[in-house]
Amino acid sequence: MSPRVAGSPPIPLPWAAALLLALRVGRALALPEICIQCTGSVQDWSKVALYCKQTPERTLHARCCLNQNGTILGLDLQNCSLKDLGPNFPQAHTAVIIDLHANPLKDDLANTFHGFIQLQTLILPPDVNCPGGINAWNTVTFYPDNQTCEGQRNLCNSTGDTEICPENGSCVPDGPGLLQCVCADGFHGYKCMRQGSFSLLTFFGILGSTTLFISILLWGTQRRKAKAS
Ligand SMILES: *[C@@H]1O[C@H](CO)[C@@H](O)[C@H](O)[C@H]1NC(C)=O
Ligand SMILES: *[C@@H]1O[C@H](CO)[C@@H](O)[C@H](O)[C@H]1NC(C)=O
Ligand SMILES: *[C@@H]1O[C@H](CO)[C@@H](O)[C@H](O)[C@H]1NC(C)=O
Ligand SMILES: *[C@@H]1O[C@H](CO)[C@@H](O)[C@H](O)[C@H]1NC(C)=O
Ligand SMILES: *[C@@H]1O[C@H](CO)[C@@H](O)[C@H](O)[C@H]1NC(C)=O
Repeated sequence: MSPRVAGSPPIPLPWAAALLLALRVGRALALPEICIQCTGSVQDWSKVALYCKQTPERTLHARCCLNQNGTILGLDLQNCSLKDLGPNFPQAHTAVIIDLHANPLKDDLANTFHGFIQLQTLILPPDVNCPGGINAWNTVTFYPDNQTCEGQRNLCNSTGDTEICPENGSCVPDGPGLLQCVCADGFHGYKCMRQGSFSLLTFFGILGSTTLFISILLWGTQRRKAKAS
């Protein structure tokens, strides 16, 4: 057994494990920060509340609508005095509906919605453009006090541009106006041109895969920019 230190009794291992487990469960039950960083709760008449009440499996908690698994399906941050969306915003990447109107937001949301592939309704202040531009959405509606972006389009299906990704890569949506090229199984590297298993990936672990992911992301966006110009 471990040596005793005067004044502090040794913590038995099972007890420590139980504590760790309790901490982990506690964290799983806690609401994501994005749901509680703005005070108040979703108002009855809001679009997010209407969406949430459509089925009994969805429930409102603070500023979020969650499913039974605690996944964020709706986020209502209207009237929160937000100038920007802050570091917790990516927690809402599973949301189907987001309301951000009545906030002094700066019109620079281009990269804020990375990975928000489920998003179908986004309500913004009237002077903030829909992320990805008008072509990233099926319908954009302008009102005096808000702007609604509805029906996220899949850019991978864009007209005429069938060869967005290289031969052994495939295009996957990555949020409004965003896409990613993912190499097919057995391919990797620049333009997915190298074949064989990527032993370096397991060697470098998380660091390696993160770098690879970022490279693919950058390569995808740069290529898109090049095409657009
Ligand atoms: C909850 O998670 C389980 C497994 O992860 C999944 O099968 C189920 O569809 C999820 N339920 C909802 C409502 O998303
Ligand atoms: C916005 O919030 C303020 C207080 O934070 C409240 O007085 C005001 O009525 C709210 N406006 C709307 C439109 O909800
Ligand atoms: C947007 O504005 C229109 C007209 O002012 C209003 O009818 C609608 O309810 C607003 N939408 C939201 C989500 O506040
Ligand atoms: C995009 O294309 C794929 C296959 O070509 C198709 O299954 C999918 O429904 C299309 N999505 C949209 C939004 O058009
Ligand atoms: C794509 O894969 C095929 C084999 O599946 C290979 O013959 C071809 O050279 C690859 N293309 C590129 C650009 O690497």
